[in-house]
Amino acid sequence: METMIEFRHVKKSYGDKPVLKDFNLTVEKGEFVTIIGSSGCGKTTALKMVNGLLEPDGGDIFVYGENIRGKDQTQLRRNIGYAIQGSVLFPHMTVEQNISYVPNLLNKKDRKKTRDAVSKWMKIVGLDDELRSRFPSELSGGQQQRVGIARALAASPEILLMDEPFGAVDEITRGQLQTEIGRIHAQTGITVMFVTHDISEALKLGTKVLVMDKGDIQQYDRPEELLRHPATDFVKKLVAQQRHACHLPDDRLEECEYSGVRTC
Ligand SMILES: Nc1ncnc2c1ncn2[C@@H]1O[C@H](COP(=O)(O)OP(=O)(O)OP(=O)(O)O)[C@@H](O)[C@H]1O
Ligand SMILES: [Mg+2]
Repeated sequence: METMIEFRHVKKSYGDKPVLKDFNLTVEKGEFVTIIGSSGCGKTTALKMVNGLLEPDGGDIFVYGENIRGKDQTQLRRNIGYAIQGSVLFPHMTVEQNISYVPNLLNKKDRKKTRDAVSKWMKIVGLDDELRSRFPSELSGGQQQRVGIARALAASPEILLMDEPFGAVDEITRGQLQTEIGRIHAQTGITVMFVTHDISEALKLGTKVLVMDKGDIQQYDRPEELLRHPATDFVKKLVAQQRHACHLPDDRLEECEYSGVRTC
């Protein structure tokens, strides 16, 4: 398997407060890695380092086998989509302009192709076409979030970084977006790093799940392995929430078919 993203002995502190002390992680091409862990344990920090929004204090990060230290940021981000919680849309641009911002950069000559791509992605994330000409301030939080996801996907990136992307949407829309992102992943073979607070979302979407606590990796494994062989007490407690959610005692866990865990 080809390695897509690699953290080697990465260190990161804010002031004198260390967040990541010796962080090592390999993400293979085509994996959908879900990241879950206690609040403040460094998930967002790790994600932001992949596309150069934050720089490590020590250690190295490789993307496509290339050390990204000192690499041109625009070039680095061309193949990396980034969708985060809370609106990061350009306030002075319409929905259409926001979504097409990246493809426009890449494809200035073919405007129709860009327009069609915007329609396609709006449909995929469940945004009504009439919202095209609205500004972010005229959208609900969930709609803004979906514009952000559409924008991240519109550039057809090879890597997608998502930080709690479905936080501000209702349960039904969340389910639809989960199905959709799973489908996009299966169809395109895109490599995904996806932060979530929801263990069932992590187990359902991830081909691998990374469990973190206080900057340390507790377990990095296939969802089935997490459920069958939790490596630490932290992971045990986390997956117990999932078992509780499927209303079955531990010894009958198989019967809940891992609550929709994707097997790969
Ligand atoms: N710019 C900053 N300056 C100082 N401290 C920061 C900064 N950004 C993050 N931190 C601190 O670093 C730690 C890790 O933050 P990070 O955002 O990576 O956590 P997280 O795992 O994403 O948490 P959450 O699940 O709450 O989003 C936290 O304790 C946070 O308060
Ligand atoms: Mg975070």
